[in-house]
Amino acid sequence: MKERLLALKTEALQELERVENAQQLNDLRVKYLGKKGPLTEILRGMGALSAEERPVIGQVANEVRGAIEEVIEAKQAEYAQAETANRLKAEMVDVTLPGRRTAHGAVHPLNKVIQEIEDIFIGMGYSVAEGPQVEKDYYNFEALNLPKDHPARDMQDSFYITDEILMRTQTSPVQIRTMEKRQGAVPIKIISPGQVYRRDDDDATHSHMFTQIEGLVIDRHIRMSDLKGTLLQFVQEMFGPQTRIRMRPSFFPFTEPSAEVDVSCMMCGGQGCRTCKKTGWLEILGSGMVHPRVLEMSGYDPNEYSGFAFGMGVERIAMLKYGVDDIRHFYTNDIRFLKQFVHI
Ligand code: DAH
Repeated sequence: MKERLLALKTEALQELERVENAQQLNDLRVKYLGKKGPLTEILRGMGALSAEERPVIGQVANEVRGAIEEVIEAKQAEYAQAETANRLKAEMVDVTLPGRRTAHGAVHPLNKVIQEIEDIFIGMGYSVAEGPQVEKDYYNFEALNLPKDHPARDMQDSFYITDEILMRTQTSPVQIRTMEKRQGAVPIKIISPGQVYRRDDDDATHSHMFTQIEGLVIDRHIRMSDLKGTLLQFVQEMFGPQTRIRMRPSFFPFTEPSAEVDVSCMMCGGQGCRTCKKTGWLEILGSGMVHPRVLEMSGYDPNEYSGFAFGMGVERIAMLKYGVDDIRHFYTNDIRFLKQFVHI
């Protein structure tokens, strides 16, 4: 039995010599020391030995087991160390490499101007309302006091989809939708930004699609001086506290009286320059007192309620504010143009 044990030891140690990886090492451990291994079997058979033999064989068996275990443990430690070293190498991070920059998007200049205008009006208690760009003729024209065949429709050449549906030519239909929704309730204080569409030929100052912001206030006792004060507040926040406004009589079917609003030229402070064509003034929006017919058609009694409205082109405001000389820059997405607005 002793010989068997010693032979087992020699065999095991030889095999362990040839082991190449942790997997093989584990297989050998199971093979020699496992529950079904030869060593266990021999130890189990010790009961049959005589009382003198038992401790002698027991000692030899323990020595053999110890010797095998020792080699296995040493090799296990070796593999574990190698594995850690490999992992550290594989996961090595070179902290001296320069950082990799992520390309950064920015808000489009038109959206920036919209946000800025919204902020100013929200600061005056307005909320933002939106409406569809594909609009009913009723909301875009009729309810704004522009019945079919009204000559003023010619002011806004339109893209019709059917006889009754068109691409909206202005944001004013949101006025009507808001009044309908509020069902006679006051006050209404909204601004409404969005795209509008007209059959214009594109050039440096015209685009078949552009952006407007509409404003509407309805309550009891709203007067033209409220309109004037509101717009003055707006332009001074938008263009600086020194900005002045002037109102010129005009015509819109949905307001009476109507006024075109000019701001003092922010380029020359009103002295006269190329931007303002030497006049010192720049036209920026249309406005007026909501026409009694418009109030009436949308469920507001003009004897009890009054209101003002205004509408402006966002591109024009952005062009004036940032000195952009061609409206098409806003839509062609030239990165060199857009980049200039990242940090403003
Ligand atoms: N919708 C007009 C346009 O596109 C602008 C406008 C003028 C809007 C006067 C208004 C307003 O609300 O009162 O030319």
